[in-house]
Amino acid sequence: MNSIEVEHLKRIYTTTMGVVKRTIKEVVAVDDLSFSISNGELFGLLGPNGAGKTTTIKMLTTLLIPTAGSARIRGFDIVKDARKVRSTIGFIFGGERGLYWRLSAADNLRYFASLYFVDPEVSRKRIPYLLELVGLQDRAQEKVEGYSRGMKQRLHIARTLLHDPDILFLDEPTIGLDPVGARELRQVIHNLHDDGKTILLTTHYMFEADELCERIAVINKGNLVALDSPQGLKEHVRDMNVLEIEVFGIQQDRIDSIRALPQTDSVSVVDRDQRQLLQIHSVFGSEILPKILAILGTLPTGKVALREPTLEDAYVQLVKEEV
Ligand SMILES: Nc1ncnc2c1ncn2[C@@H]1O[C@H](COP(=O)(O)OP(=O)(O)OP(=O)(O)O)[C@@H](O)[C@H]1O
Ligand SMILES: [Mg+2]
Repeated sequence: MNSIEVEHLKRIYTTTMGVVKRTIKEVVAVDDLSFSISNGELFGLLGPNGAGKTTTIKMLTTLLIPTAGSARIRGFDIVKDARKVRSTIGFIFGGERGLYWRLSAADNLRYFASLYFVDPEVSRKRIPYLLELVGLQDRAQEKVEGYSRGMKQRLHIARTLLHDPDILFLDEPTIGLDPVGARELRQVIHNLHDDGKTILLTTHYMFEADELCERIAVINKGNLVALDSPQGLKEHVRDMNVLEIEVFGIQQDRIDSIRALPQTDSVSVVDRDQRQLLQIHSVFGSEILPKILAILGTLPTGKVALREPTLEDAYVQLVKEEV
């Protein structure tokens, strides 16, 4: 059974520009998107900034009407049956506001439970359960203003679970969290998945998608680029290796020369304090090392390593192919 079915979904934003001479600008945020998510699946939606992820989620959560195409959530149409859709879903957007900072976590949940008409008998049992699920049981009586960002984000998740939705949309839930806070939040997502929730997640952290998601859709410019398991996506770059060389003060012309080698697929440079990490994607692996060292010449180098491609490497390749 599919929980979410998306068929040829499209969304165009129209904005007016200029004061004297008004022009209408159209942005195709989601072009032609089709995919389905099965019951209980943890599904990732990845793509560069502006790819259309949030727009897709806004349509699926009935906050935005599609320009064309359709989608069903548990068989309910997102436009015609919007009310029924809303009762089966929960959602959070990264960096969201909407909690009462002067109230405790428990009081926030009590307030929102009454706002959503959750039966008081039910919420009396459900609120402690949710606080425990998101790991806030010990701090539940403290005011939210003293909470860390990660704790607030976990409280947001508890809030969206008050009406016991089956399907959750989490748009960049770990954005802006420190590594420990992000890890705690990932644990919450794991728990929700174990609980049988269907989850659609977006993130810019590839290791996070790799760790959590069963399947991943990569989108770019409003269209699907790939849809597979994290392992399947990595297969895409299976024959590729990543050669990493630590360099000190590399100049652009040398980078260009390495890029120009017929054996290199792509080259990126990551800045690290006084050093840079040169990452060379190539099917030739260490075979091309002598050629590269010749280009680097007298430039001081540090560690050299050859590693297996990660999901991030596969993603970069997929998105690059589209461009
Ligand atoms: N309200 C709006 N009015 C006009 N254009 C918009 C609006 N919201 C988004 N867009 C445009 O639609 C496109 C898709 O935006 P969207 O926010 O869906 O991308 P995203 O994949 O969520 O990106 P990010 O990773 O940065 O969150 C972008 O080009 C964006 O500028
Ligand atoms: Mg977004």
